[in-house]
Amino acid sequence: MDVFVVEHPLARARLTTMRDARTDSAAFRSALHELTLMLVYEATREAQVRTEKVHTPVAMATGYRLANPPLLVPVLRAGLGMADQAHLLIPEAQMGFVGLARNEETLRPTPYLESLPESLEGRAVLVLDPMLATGGSMEHTIRLLADRGATDITAVCALAAPEGVEHLRRSGLPLRVVTASIDQRLNDSGYIVPGLGDAGDRQYGPA
Ligand code: URA
Repeated sequence: MDVFVVEHPLARARLTTMRDARTDSAAFRSALHELTLMLVYEATREAQVRTEKVHTPVAMATGYRLANPPLLVPVLRAGLGMADQAHLLIPEAQMGFVGLARNEETLRPTPYLESLPESLEGRAVLVLDPMLATGGSMEHTIRLLADRGATDITAVCALAAPEGVEHLRRSGLPLRVVTASIDQRLNDSGYIVPGLGDAGDRQYGPA
């Protein structure tokens, strides 16, 4: 499983704003929006294109269009804050939704929404979730996608924990991870350290 860490200075600066406990919800959401643009930009670097001829006001030119626009899948609730920006960059994309709540005792994902196309064969998929912590929610989501035939799946995350990356690696599922940082570890409550706290609460207030 490939893991790509976006170490661009602008990405680091936005992530720092998100980490800072003094950042209020509005500024946190803005920083996540801006970081999402950078992560999705990198995540689609290898996207297949088809060529087409276009007339500029001056001459004929070879143009490029996405050959296989990805399905965007925000994982609710925290992934909602990445959905619009990913769509802004890829307006041709369709969007599916997965809703998972985390059981705070077992730390296991509890599904409450699954709105995805029946077949994903031949479709690229970008899963949007700011936090890759234990990897349980991401594994659950990737399995839903793989069961529908997806084989080209990218998890786009602001932050990842080494435990979550390892969990996904061991799952053997067909995916790669694009993130702005792999942090130190998970704490006993399943939070990423140093992390940024609860990404849902930081965007929308406590649930
Ligand atoms: N989910 C979050 O929002 N934050 C963490 O640190 C871990 C999981």
